[in-house]
Amino acid sequence: MRNVNQETVTQVFLDYCGPETPPRLRFLLEHLVRHLHDFVRETGLTHDEWRTAIELLTETGEITDAERNEFVLFSDVLGLSSLVDMINSRPDATSSSVLGPFHILGAPELAFGGDLRRDNDGATVIVSGQVRGADGAPLPGAAIELWQTADNGLYSNQDPSQPEYNLRARLAVNDDGRYAVTTVRPAPYTVPDDGPVGKLLHATGRHPWRPSHLHFIVSAPGHRTLVTELFPHDDPYLDEDAVFGVRDDLIMHYEEQDGSRPPPVGLEAGDRLTSPYYTVDFDFVLAAEA
Ligand code: BEZ
Ligand code: FE
Repeated sequence: MRNVNQETVTQVFLDYCGPETPPRLRFLLEHLVRHLHDFVRETGLTHDEWRTAIELLTETGEITDAERNEFVLFSDVLGLSSLVDMINSRPDATSSSVLGPFHILGAPELAFGGDLRRDNDGATVIVSGQVRGADGAPLPGAAIELWQTADNGLYSNQDPSQPEYNLRARLAVNDDGRYAVTTVRPAPYTVPDDGPVGKLLHATGRHPWRPSHLHFIVSAPGHRTLVTELFPHDDPYLDEDAVFGVRDDLIMHYEEQDGSRPPPVGLEAGDRLTSPYYTVDFDFVLAAEA
């Protein structure tokens, strides 16, 4: 079409997509371009505003490398990553939550009841629970990956003073689908705000804090892999997570133990536990693969 105008440009774009366009790609493009064009028409976007947006995207590309993906961070602080999580979460399973940029492959295996705390500072926490299917049956074939910040609010791959793979492990589950690990209580921390995402946060009066959390990837044969996080009920940032990751069913309690009850049996750190320490009991429910 030659005389394209404000009203026809969206349909003209769609007509340009040839018959070889895969149906799902056509469907996604149709919706994406419809919403983009509506956005411009509804806001009356100016050239200056368009240029600012392009400059922000250019900066986002320039700061992105193998260690830092500013595009993902934009998706996170806009609520896009969490929205994708929410629409793909299954109501019969534990909610999923953002993966975040600090997961790395290759974390070492830790036996049931193993000690991840080792020489780390901070309050000692024993995290334990069970992995079950949505039908309630324990999943002894499950695998759990756990990663978290140290007491200083930094992940091992952000902090050269921490050993490689500090506070990261693949946890073994027992014959009853149960897991148990001794670790430290992580601290709240900020998402990186020294780049274009930070500019947006600062321009809109938003802080970059996330509530403290433990990250998990839980998988089992025949089940959908769950990427999620657990948050303590008393964290000051629970209601204002910069990346919208908190869900009611992901809130846990650190129960303070004063030594009047014996620690759970089978813990590698059993003899070294000094009071007070904390326990967290959390069960993961996985949806069956469709
Ligand atoms: C995190 O959980 O580590 C995280 C998630 C999203 C953006 C930045 C950090
Ligand atoms: Fe995190």
